[in-house]
Amino acid sequence: MALKTFFLASILSLATAKGFKASTFSYPAKQASFQSFVVQHSLASPPQGFTKVGPADAGSTVNLRIGVSSGNTAGLEKALLDVSAPSSAKYGKHLTKAEVNAFLAPADNALAAVQSWLSSNGLTGTPSSSAGHWLSVSVPVSKANAMLSANYQTYKHVASGTTYARTLSYSLPAEVADFIDHVHPTTAFTNPYARSPALSKAIASPVSANASPDSCNSSMTPTCIQALYGVPTTPATQYSNGIAVAGFINQFARRADLSNFLQSFRPDMSATTTFMTQKLDDGRNRQNASLAGIEANLDIQYTVGIATNVPISFVSVGNTFEDGGLQGFLDIVNFLLDEDDIPQVMSTSYGNNEANIPPALAFKLCEAYMALGARGTSILFSTGDGGVQGTQPQSCTTFQPSFPVGCPYVTAVGSVGSISPEIGSSFSSGGFSNLFSTPDYQHDAVAGFLKAQGTVNQGLFNASGGRGYPDVSAQGERIPIVSGGTPQPVAGTSASTPIFASLIGLLNDQLIAANKQPLGFLNPWLYQHPEMFTDITAGNNPGCGTDGFTAITGWDPVTGLGTPIFSKMQAAAGL
Ligand SMILES: *[C@@H]1O[C@H](CO)[C@@H](O)[C@H](O)[C@H]1NC(C)=O
Ligand SMILES: *[C@@H]1O[C@H](CO)[C@@H](O)[C@H](O)[C@H]1NC(C)=O
Ligand SMILES: *[C@@H]1O[C@H](CO)[C@@H](O)[C@H](O)[C@H]1NC(C)=O
Repeated sequence: MALKTFFLASILSLATAKGFKASTFSYPAKQASFQSFVVQHSLASPPQGFTKVGPADAGSTVNLRIGVSSGNTAGLEKALLDVSAPSSAKYGKHLTKAEVNAFLAPADNALAAVQSWLSSNGLTGTPSSSAGHWLSVSVPVSKANAMLSANYQTYKHVASGTTYARTLSYSLPAEVADFIDHVHPTTAFTNPYARSPALSKAIASPVSANASPDSCNSSMTPTCIQALYGVPTTPATQYSNGIAVAGFINQFARRADLSNFLQSFRPDMSATTTFMTQKLDDGRNRQNASLAGIEANLDIQYTVGIATNVPISFVSVGNTFEDGGLQGFLDIVNFLLDEDDIPQVMSTSYGNNEANIPPALAFKLCEAYMALGARGTSILFSTGDGGVQGTQPQSCTTFQPSFPVGCPYVTAVGSVGSISPEIGSSFSSGGFSNLFSTPDYQHDAVAGFLKAQGTVNQGLFNASGGRGYPDVSAQGERIPIVSGGTPQPVAGTSASTPIFASLIGLLNDQLIAANKQPLGFLNPWLYQHPEMFTDITAGNNPGCGTDGFTAITGWDPVTGLGTPIFSKMQAAAGL
């Protein structure tokens, strides 16, 4: 992977290359009188958990990201499916950066209209994606209110005390409304601290390095995982291969903890085996023991410690803009899309409730995952740790889908515990999106589950055509890590995700060594090869006063297709 330390550096050079600099592109000084506004998104009140503090300080700055409509999202989607369906002649022929950008780039007239609107407001949009379909401008609140016919107020997320400026409604002038998919931050009320429903919960149990049925039952070490799923311990050999581990909420992965972890749990590996750190949006990389982050350490220890010798990069995404995480989600994908050599796997153990995200922004983020998948990256996300309830209170009356796992172009990973048999974890989130429809690749799997389930949970979830998740699952209970020098067991789909990602990283190593293409977007391949999984048929994910969904024979919204069998995955990959 090419290493770029700062996102902005790469974007600025692009701005020059593509001629977006104000000096090289001229627009009519003042053209239309943008007067007729079209409402883009509005909410009756702030979502549960947020309260209004008062008007936002008119002089404070809002960093707006403007998502301009891509020229050909449908073409990109088709191209992605073409290179990802094993039956396709184009299978594995992933797209180059230029090919993907040609789909993502806005039509000339769209970009011209948007720049003209900005220019009439005395602004120039700076491209924040290499395809030029995301523009950023920084404006005072007063100007944002005028430009977007908005009413920015300061809102507080009560549980964390964090405040940010949001509006309950925003509009765009009719002249540009058709050319802009979404402007952020406007109506997104995500919780900046619980935006990781997948953060690990500690479960008290002894930590042990040995693999035996008894010890693995109480401590699911790397050795246990290798034995359970048949994961090779031999070092990977390909340096063009890579796994990117996404880090948010200012957590960093601590090298001393990794070394300590490897000594305890991978004594066959060199304790100096390490990873690369990339930073964007002023991401942190302090190495103090007292500030060590459990999530970041877990994610690094279960990639470096399972994907033996696969190059791993920790991407530390900052929290500069108090944006509830969504801007970071967007920036990391645009950052990777800007690289000539993309990581073949991206593992993320963070997410949000789908309902807190404006649909247009969810679709725009999903478009970014589509693009990265078309480049050949397998994108894995944890489903979350709130069962069917997500982060809602227990009194909830409908199940809450998670994002971005509802996007059909990411691979959603749930959790199981126990061994022989493995059982779906009660905390493991699973269900059906309210925004994204069931993709073709999982149509039969979802239909099979819904038929078998009958009327159970009727009315509590979207049974009419929503994308189902998880796709797969892996161990996520009693996982020992070292954080801040202290060994401790954790649990969560946060653990399952880097574990599954590591198996994909090892398969890619073998594929590259055999002169074959890496796996890329996984789902069509996964659903075509159910034999690659141990079908999990026990466990349920309670919430909202119900038992949640129940794991059954075949795909289910607790454990997906099941847990991996490495040798069968090798066979299905033609290894
Ligand atoms: C694993 O632990 C569970 C719960 O403590 C117990 O019911 C089960 O018998 C144990 N299995 C093995 C193989 O030790
Ligand atoms: C963490 O490390 C940085 C850099 O060494 C230091 O400036 C800072 O004071 C440390 N913070 C804590 C809480 O130890
Ligand atoms: C269920 O999903 C479909 C497909 O995305 C969508 O059209 C429909 O509105 C969803 N239903 C509900 C109740 O959210």
